[in-house]
Amino acid sequence: MATTQASLGTQPCASRNSDVYMGVTASAPAKVILFGEHFVVYGEPAIVLAIDKRVYAKVEPRQDKRLHLHSANLNLAGYFEDGFFQVEQGSAKEAKSKFDPLKLVVENVLEIYGEDVGLDIEVDSAVPVAAGLGTSAAVAVALTAAVGSLLKVKVSKEAILRISYEAEKIVHSTPSEIDPTISTFGGALLFQTDTGFKPLDVKADVPLVIGYTGVQRSARAQVAKVQNTKKKYSGVIDHMMKAAREIVLKALDALRDGDLEALGDLMNINHALLYGLGVSDESLEWLINAARKAGALGAKLTGAGGGGCMVALAENERLEQVSEAIQRSGGSPFVTRKTDEGVRIEGS
Ligand code: PMV
Repeated sequence: MATTQASLGTQPCASRNSDVYMGVTASAPAKVILFGEHFVVYGEPAIVLAIDKRVYAKVEPRQDKRLHLHSANLNLAGYFEDGFFQVEQGSAKEAKSKFDPLKLVVENVLEIYGEDVGLDIEVDSAVPVAAGLGTSAAVAVALTAAVGSLLKVKVSKEAILRISYEAEKIVHSTPSEIDPTISTFGGALLFQTDTGFKPLDVKADVPLVIGYTGVQRSARAQVAKVQNTKKKYSGVIDHMMKAAREIVLKALDALRDGDLEALGDLMNINHALLYGLGVSDESLEWLINAARKAGALGAKLTGAGGGGCMVALAENERLEQVSEAIQRSGGSPFVTRKTDEGVRIEGS
């Protein structure tokens, strides 16, 4: 489909003189899947929250046509020029694979607005990257907004979602739209493949501790693992699918009523199902058990599993204890909450 300004719902502003472009920083929230990962691949519902930890993209114009990128978190830097990539920091292969999606974002935005400028791009994340917290999508979302703002054009959230989703397709071969959507719009979403997204009105404070195992994992491998198990034991897994659906339906009631105790129980049951699917691992189990022992209302893995992150729900007065227990068990914890704020411009 040809992408045009009209199809993206965007409007050029009056003044677009590159001489006056200033640097811009935009940010977008990371996410946590509270319920339904893996089952969502087979059509069941999932509940996702945007969290108050953000990913930042800073964009500055250059005098030349180079697209220069630096990621402090990944220790990678390099630039694209005349169709070639030159690494400056880290492995060339890794840098190119991480920066290719960002190049696509920039090219798409520049093409739509008929601009051709070189840029310096700095990305930074307040949460671990490649750990199931949606940072790759959040970078693409923030970068789309930052480049749009630099060009002084108003890019609608729908347009930001579409452009960042294209970038996600390079990162994950068949990504769901969950990550770019939650990062663009913020808040809490119910997602199901056949019905799409429904924003959830969650008034209750949902205090969470996320623990990073430090174990990098491939989401694709975990999804494939579940696919094999499902083929082998379809009768059993079908019952688990039904249970996962029930968990989400009950969780919707608990979120609406602010019933944290029920929410915690449901997280524990959801984790048992994920464990049954074979996507937990020792590193996750250590942190999950430590969090529960320290008084968490519930804890589960979040995202694809096989490492990555776990999430615990705890009353405010227990957050510190739960964090410490996760830390003692070898994880990297941080306290977080839902944020309603999606992508935003931080200022020039
Ligand atoms: O680890 P993440 O955040 O990439 O989440 C993967 C979620 C799965 O349900 C396992 C896969 C998917 O595409 O929904």
